[in-house]
Amino acid sequence: MSDSKYQFINDALEKRKRGNRFRTLTSYDPKDEVIISVGEDALINFSGNDYLGLSKHPDVIQRAKEYVDEYGTSAGASRLISGTFSIHEKLEEKIASTFDWESALLFNSGFQANSTIISTLTDRHSLILADKLSHNSLLQGSLASRADFQRFDHNSVDDLADKLDKASSREYKRIIVITESLFSMDGDRSDLQSISDLTQQHDAWLFIDDAHAMGVWGKNGLGLANSIQGIDMVLGTCGKAFGGFGAFLLCSSEIRDYLVNFCPGFIYTTALPPSVIGSIEASIELIPYMKEDRNRLYKHISVMREGIHKAGYSTGQSDSQIIPIIIGDDSETVELADYFKERGFLGTAIRPPTVPEGSARIRITLSSKHTESQINQFLTALTEWTND
Ligand SMILES: Cc1ncc(COP(=O)(O)O)c(C=O)c1O
Repeated sequence: MSDSKYQFINDALEKRKRGNRFRTLTSYDPKDEVIISVGEDALINFSGNDYLGLSKHPDVIQRAKEYVDEYGTSAGASRLISGTFSIHEKLEEKIASTFDWESALLFNSGFQANSTIISTLTDRHSLILADKLSHNSLLQGSLASRADFQRFDHNSVDDLADKLDKASSREYKRIIVITESLFSMDGDRSDLQSISDLTQQHDAWLFIDDAHAMGVWGKNGLGLANSIQGIDMVLGTCGKAFGGFGAFLLCSSEIRDYLVNFCPGFIYTTALPPSVIGSIEASIELIPYMKEDRNRLYKHISVMREGIHKAGYSTGQSDSQIIPIIIGDDSETVELADYFKERGFLGTAIRPPTVPEGSARIRITLSSKHTESQINQFLTALTEWTND
């Protein structure tokens, strides 16, 4: 063995540091829906996913408290042992009926769902085709399977069509196509209708991660996948616009039964705790009626995007509350993030490997709870940086 069994850790960390890509944790304390503090400093948060401010909604907090009082702090066991309380089942029924799907199945997080569902549904006779910019959890799920795995060009229906055509000569038992409805790092959308038409023509499965769209987009805020026919499974996460934690899969009752029987990430883990079930339940009751909040958010999006363009930056193909200010160079991006902090804003630098090389960015996310004045202050700071 070489000098030390830990040498590879030191080497990897040194490499990250040399490349200016060393990640560290900073602790923030939320003061309200959009203000967070770091030590003595208060920052306007443009880096959260609580798009409707539901994590601080009194009804959501109240239901979480009620469920803790009534059911305790833990489910105490996994779902198949004794961790399915009546509130878990009631919530799954509510989710399925709200989204108008036959069934819903709760998962402990979106990451856990994505990284385990895909491998449960595929085997070595299967092919997984995933958008190149799919979230890491989808990538992990695909790599954990024994299936062939290919990525199609980002948002390219043509490349997907080409890959599906080529796959028809290979006798795969199953093909599963995976993409996001609204991409987490670029804020752009996929052409779900065309992808759905294509997968149906090839008798392939279609799995859509709707994490960033639910609550914000689509009829009654029920997501972008909700109005599209031909999708086999839709993943929703509750840690974003729901202001909570956890995730759910919308699917048929057969797929649900299959996952309950075979999906390790569902079976071998403690069920979501009562407080979390309470918060998701309250959020799902509120979301369809939050039209005004969504309209405010849509307005914020156009003001922010226009302002960033005026300051001379590209926002790529973003068409949502996730707006990248694309800088390109890693160091310059970090400098800009530091400058924002000095000016009282949190806009996080996102660098490779999270995004492709040469596309480092400040990833801005907007909430309906931001004020116009906060957005204008941010844009003024950006313009001053540009002119400096
Ligand atoms: C597209 C997408 N899917 C899944 C996840 C994971 O969800 P969760 O935070 O619930 O683990 C995320 C979160 O970062 C995401 O952006």
